[in-house]
Amino acid sequence: MTGGGISLHDGLTIEATDELAGVARWLRQAVEQSMGWRVEISGHARPSTTSGNVVRLVLERGDDRDEHRSPVEGYRLKVGDDAVTVTASGPAGVFYGLQTFRQLLPDSSWRVATIEPAPPLALTGMEVSDEPAFAWRGVHLDVSRHFMPKGFVLKLIDLISMHKCNVLHLHLTDDQGWRMPIEAYPRLVEVGAWRRESAAGHYREGRFDGRPHGGFYSTDDLREIVGYARERFVEVLPEIEMPGHMVAAIAAYPELGNSLEPREVLTTWGISPHVLNLEPATLKFCTDVLDEVIDLFPFGYVHVGGDECPTSEWEASEKAQALMTAEGLDSERQLQAWFTARIARHLSGRGRRLVGWDEILEGGAPPGAVVMSWRGEEGGIKAASAGHDVVMAPQQWLYFDWAYADDPREPLAICPGTSVERVWSYDPVPDSIPEVQRHHVLGAQCQLWTEYVPNAEHAEYLYFPRVSAFSEVMWRGAAARDLSGPRSFEEFESRLRQHLRRFDAIGVNYRPLEGPTPGQSRVWVR
Ligand code: ACM
Repeated sequence: MTGGGISLHDGLTIEATDELAGVARWLRQAVEQSMGWRVEISGHARPSTTSGNVVRLVLERGDDRDEHRSPVEGYRLKVGDDAVTVTASGPAGVFYGLQTFRQLLPDSSWRVATIEPAPPLALTGMEVSDEPAFAWRGVHLDVSRHFMPKGFVLKLIDLISMHKCNVLHLHLTDDQGWRMPIEAYPRLVEVGAWRRESAAGHYREGRFDGRPHGGFYSTDDLREIVGYARERFVEVLPEIEMPGHMVAAIAAYPELGNSLEPREVLTTWGISPHVLNLEPATLKFCTDVLDEVIDLFPFGYVHVGGDECPTSEWEASEKAQALMTAEGLDSERQLQAWFTARIARHLSGRGRRLVGWDEILEGGAPPGAVVMSWRGEEGGIKAASAGHDVVMAPQQWLYFDWAYADDPREPLAICPGTSVERVWSYDPVPDSIPEVQRHHVLGAQCQLWTEYVPNAEHAEYLYFPRVSAFSEVMWRGAAARDLSGPRSFEEFESRLRQHLRRFDAIGVNYRPLEGPTPGQSRVWVR
């Protein structure tokens, strides 16, 4: 806190140089539409206009990339007597400073229309210097098990950027649906995007809903998603699963499988034994698909899955066995690693790093691969110790398809029990990673698998407010927390309660802290 302060009101000026024009327009739109103030964007160096009703955006000359070539995301926010000033060394930092500034505005500023013009806003003088604890602050969405409309993906980008998260991982393909058009293989969406029906209730009950399901994004939809995300400093990480979780593709192109037996896009959940063969034409299929993915998604990383790939078909396949012999491989798991290494080389030739689930460590992960540790923290610990970069995504803390509580009011979910407090308590850097390897933990990611999430409304319920707790750890770091004392969960929860008012203004179907509303409690799939 410093002394003094400022009053902001109708006729606000945002001062920004050309490099910050996009960020300035984003702020102007948010303020104009909800607060009913006129807002003007002007360049710097107009001292006569700096009458005290000013938000000034300043780029400090300095490197806007850190030593890992990641954007520098820190900022300083100062509420002074003549202006609110946000200073950073790159546009991303300015954007995060403005996200913090938005928290000083009334809750109604999160609406998209003006209910009544906002009165002048008195802000007390203060100065904040802030930067994230982790570079990779990810949110994952499975759009394969249930297709999620584009409008929801865009809303999710707004919500995750509001929480200063910066990666949206889209799980675009799986056994139950293929969601991205590939020009060279049109049947991937013609056939692979649709399934006859879906499991109803828990899949072990063996019941089905009798209703077709599917959908896919057009190429322009995906370009729009990427562009919208980049304006909000979110990178989109595409995931194309291989060599397992590929039944939608095998249904479209049976020659990709290990027998020519026709398969349909799967209608139930779980792990399928039907996986890709690893013959040259299939490798070409994979690299052709990835080339189109790279053309569309500019992020420096591409996720190729690699999890849950049974080897029974390769054990029974003469061709797979011959390939193993020719390549001098001792096991089917090594065959998978051989395949992943070829894919990694292809990606690296096109300037992209491979990301895979922690199973890619079995049989040896390719050099430079990033490991997403989902079966707990062990994969991440092992990967970091072996010199791989790691994104922590352990299911026991960060799988948001798990229910909030073991409570009959909770809707059907795959597992019970990941509370907001449990998410808040997560520490992405386990003590068992040696000090010198800790820099390999790029950050963490929360996952939303959608087997039991039939629509966007239910996805919002499962994300929020757990994403708020996740973002608290991602930005402030585990060290900023005590399990009791001034930075306890209770302290977080009291801030979270205020934050939920913003969700009310936006229209987010979040779960109240006391438990689901009667409408949310209704069982979604049964
Ligand atoms: C996973 O949950 N199979 C990554």
